[in-house]
Amino acid sequence: MKCVIDGIYRFGKDFATLSLAPNKKVYDEKTIRKGKDEYRIIDPKKSKLGAALRMGLKETGLFEGAKVLYLGIASGTTASHISDITGEHGLIYGVEFSSRSIRDLLPVSRVRKNMIPILADARMPQTFASRIEKVNVLYQDVAQKDQSEIFIRNAKAFLKKGGTAMIAIKARSIDVTENPKKIYAQEKQKLSQYFEVVQQVTLGHFEKDHAFFLCRMR
Ligand SMILES: C[S@@+](CC[C@H](N)C(=O)[O-])C[C@H]1O[C@@H](n2cnc3c(N)ncnc32)[C@H](O)[C@@H]1O
Repeated sequence: MKCVIDGIYRFGKDFATLSLAPNKKVYDEKTIRKGKDEYRIIDPKKSKLGAALRMGLKETGLFEGAKVLYLGIASGTTASHISDITGEHGLIYGVEFSSRSIRDLLPVSRVRKNMIPILADARMPQTFASRIEKVNVLYQDVAQKDQSEIFIRNAKAFLKKGGTAMIAIKARSIDVTENPKKIYAQEKQKLSQYFEVVQQVTLGHFEKDHAFFLCRMR
């Protein structure tokens, strides 16, 4: 099989990652066997990265051996695919402030040794700074009113110059009454002060009123 985008494979309309832990599903995802290899389909209804790929995302900046900071890792659905891509030489620092979600993440991180769960509030990077190193990729999915500010704060603290940063923006978390398109434009302006915004896609019917931005740290 040939990668179509940064460690991601294509099966018809579906995108998939080559499993780092064959026979160990994470969220009831569909799998495809090719000889000894197992590919895990990224469900676009359960993963915003999967939705963004289906909506035309062209790159992710992820690679084998990459160090990733993931804000809002929850129980590890999307992070498990990132874990497949970064492989055993990569690392994912997964920040999550819900202890319930961290509990659900633990069995996943026990199998996938490249995941480090961190119980912390992403708004306060200083509280987890001593536990992580500079990263190649920042990924954020936290559905907070100040989601862009959280993203910028963490990028400044931990993302290497030229590193890739992806954020899923939930318009309704910022303002329930405003037109989502206006919110995306407003958030893009904030991001543009610190990043080159490489691509923006909306998540369509997979995630209503969400946009996904792929940025590069200046
Ligand atoms: C939509 S879910 C993430 C789903 C996950 N990204 C995936 O695709 O597998 C958002 C998560 O962000 C967490 N979250 C929200 N605000 C946060 C914050 N300030 N710090 C850390 N985690 C936060 C929530 O507890 C929730 O688990």
